[in-house]
Amino acid sequence: MAKFRSLDDIDPKGKRVLLRADLNVPMKGGKIGDATRIERLAPTIRELSSRGARVVVMSHFGRPKGKPEAAYSLRPLVEPLAAAIGRPVAFAEDCVGPLAERAVAALKPGDVALLENLRFHAEEEKNDRGFAKQLAALGDLYVNDAFSAAHRAHASTQALAHLLPAAAGRLMQAELDALEAALETPKRPVAALIGGAKVSTKLDLLTFITGKVDVLIIGGAMANTLLFAQGVAVGKSLCERDMADTARRIIEQAKQRGCDLVLPMDGVVAREFKAGTPSETVAIDRVPPDAMILDIGPRTVHAIAERLARSKTLVWNGPVGAFEMAPFDAGTTALAKRVAALTREGKLLSVAGGGDTVAALAHARVVDELSYVSTAGGAFLEWLEGRTLPGVAALGAR
Ligand code: 3PG
Ligand code: MG
Repeated sequence: MAKFRSLDDIDPKGKRVLLRADLNVPMKGGKIGDATRIERLAPTIRELSSRGARVVVMSHFGRPKGKPEAAYSLRPLVEPLAAAIGRPVAFAEDCVGPLAERAVAALKPGDVALLENLRFHAEEEKNDRGFAKQLAALGDLYVNDAFSAAHRAHASTQALAHLLPAAAGRLMQAELDALEAALETPKRPVAALIGGAKVSTKLDLLTFITGKVDVLIIGGAMANTLLFAQGVAVGKSLCERDMADTARRIIEQAKQRGCDLVLPMDGVVAREFKAGTPSETVAIDRVPPDAMILDIGPRTVHAIAERLARSKTLVWNGPVGAFEMAPFDAGTTALAKRVAALTREGKLLSVAGGGDTVAALAHARVVDELSYVSTAGGAFLEWLEGRTLPGVAALGAR
């Protein structure tokens, strides 16, 4: 990964620092559902502020259609952000133009302002250079701390990075360091645990990762597609039957690259996906025609745990069962606890990311026990596909 500049390489004293954050937090009925992204951003703001910067925070929020929409205002984030950094946060009702200029001009060293949603301007998502110039006019330095939005080539993540001296914030730095330790320069053996519903959405990921890891463990409904491709009858399980050829190609590729592919050998099956529905554990070649696989079974958990015990590094994306409904959370929770224990004992470097994955880790109460849990969803996935993230590349370009 190209070396990027961090806060260690800039002198923000007295400067206006334009800080690209990702305040795109989940909201439920006007309340923040999960404040992780705010908490993880706070140290960067606190550091810049204490080093005498005038901090101008900008972010997108939701997906408004290029014009102001009250439901997507960042104003409700002002108080939570102020609480997280322990100082007041001013608010500008626009991210460019006179309202933004006035708010920025009023800042004294150490002060913090939040600008209104970048996506209230259609030019943001178009990576428009003129819009980026308007943003650039508000700052002397640019700091990007929005790894979770780095897969977007937008004005605030890409064009702007080329208009001002640019650096990565502490969260961006931590994300990049963790990802590098997991896949670029890992301690081997390195394992990947990939779950989720569909092979089709993780095709590029699977193709890339078989060339990177020593062990590839697959669970979740996507495992059904691979099993089916090998002639296993999966009953009424979620399965992409039209992906069988592709699945066989992935299996063949793993073999050629010396990547140990681990698929479920038993499963927890039920007739319907409903709370309280009777379920049973069966060998993977004994799935009844009218049943569906909703979790990995205990033999599979054991086999995976054995691989993990022999690994030094793990990358995890995707639950291995329908963890949102008991008892089908058992496999994912057992693995999460195993990963947490190995990490605690200093035997495993564990990096996880993706919305469902983090929810599953939270469900197992081990989010804080992994080596690193990414704040990113889509960006984490694209990175696992071996793609260059535009927001990261833009930082290295200077
Ligand atoms: C995310 O939550 O994945 C990021 O904030 C990016 O948001 P987007 O998918 O709307 O671009
Ligand atoms: Mg997204």
